[in-house]
Amino acid sequence: MRSIRLWAAACLAALLTGCAPKQEVNPICSGTIWPDDQGVHVNAHGGGVLYHEGVYYWYGENKSDTTSNAMVGVMCYSSPNLTDWKNEGVALAVEKNDTASDIVQGCIIERPKVIYNEQTKKFVMWFHLELKGQGYGAARSAVAISDTPVGPFRYIGSGRVNLSRLPFDMTDEQKAILDTLDAAHYPVEWTPEWRKAVEEGLFLKRDLPGGQMARDMQLFVDDDGKAYHIYSSEENMTMQIAELSDDYLSHTGKYTRMAAGGMNEAPALFKHKNTYWMITSGCTGWAPNEARMFSAPSIWGPWTQHPNPCVGPKSEITFGGQSTFVLPVPGKQDTTYIFMADIWRPEHPSDARYIWLPIQFKADGTPVIEWKEQWTLN
Ligand code: DGJ
Repeated sequence: MRSIRLWAAACLAALLTGCAPKQEVNPICSGTIWPDDQGVHVNAHGGGVLYHEGVYYWYGENKSDTTSNAMVGVMCYSSPNLTDWKNEGVALAVEKNDTASDIVQGCIIERPKVIYNEQTKKFVMWFHLELKGQGYGAARSAVAISDTPVGPFRYIGSGRVNLSRLPFDMTDEQKAILDTLDAAHYPVEWTPEWRKAVEEGLFLKRDLPGGQMARDMQLFVDDDGKAYHIYSSEENMTMQIAELSDDYLSHTGKYTRMAAGGMNEAPALFKHKNTYWMITSGCTGWAPNEARMFSAPSIWGPWTQHPNPCVGPKSEITFGGQSTFVLPVPGKQDTTYIFMADIWRPEHPSDARYIWLPIQFKADGTPVIEWKEQWTLN
């Protein structure tokens, strides 16, 4: 009886004011300022979201006003509903005093992702690390660990990936070609011959002794609990997908190459109805470009490229953004997959914005991403 009265009062108020009763769920408005619980724009760029025990944790790069280098570290925000965000502080802090540390203030920390290990009960963070003063030359992967989702994470170490290992699925024929590759044969880059050699593994071979390069990255935990590290490698020319150890703290040595020579960055991976989907960008620095999409029946491939999943105005530049993550959100009837991207602002990095859009699926299962000024997660 009381609820009927309340409902009637709400309808009367709506009639008198001429607007619908206030929605309980806040809309998601891409490209705008997203205030946290302190009214400050969320500072978690190139990030990803972990759902743990009823709470969403959003991890991302803290960007300062004047530089994209890491002055603070990796931020963590928490939310019960994906729209109200509490600033949980710095999950992984840069080292301020120890100039010998890999993660000394002024290094580059990009695209941090956190996964939870059910066996060890630890939260494991991986990120792309560039050593201070070395531009993007180091191309390392770094790992940190925590007992709690909000941290503080303890930095473990960094390095190149899978030293002295060849992709597990390289055929004898491919290995024979790799044997013949020699950088001295290609004094000029970007020729068709050079590109062919890059596709065949010119940089992979070069990096065997020191390990494979790993820049823009993603983590993916499959239904069986196995985790994978997906990263732009081989001078950003080729993606690699590598298996992580059971504790998620190292690489097992098993990896494959994907889209060889295709120049992909910003990988975002998800699984929908037993198909693995990967959305990436091209390589144009901070400037947006057209998203690419791939699918495979297994994480190990074979990966097939599809047309750009974005549709509508500015779809040819990913609506001005660059992919960072796809979050599956289980709902009452179905799971919503949220495509997350960054609108970078290199002249004022902390003012970078976020694009979050629902992924729709065509009848044949192909994902489609359509721009929406605002939408609501029900
Ligand atoms: C594009 C990458 O996706 C970003 O993470 C960042 O590394 C920029 N390039 C730097 O130009």
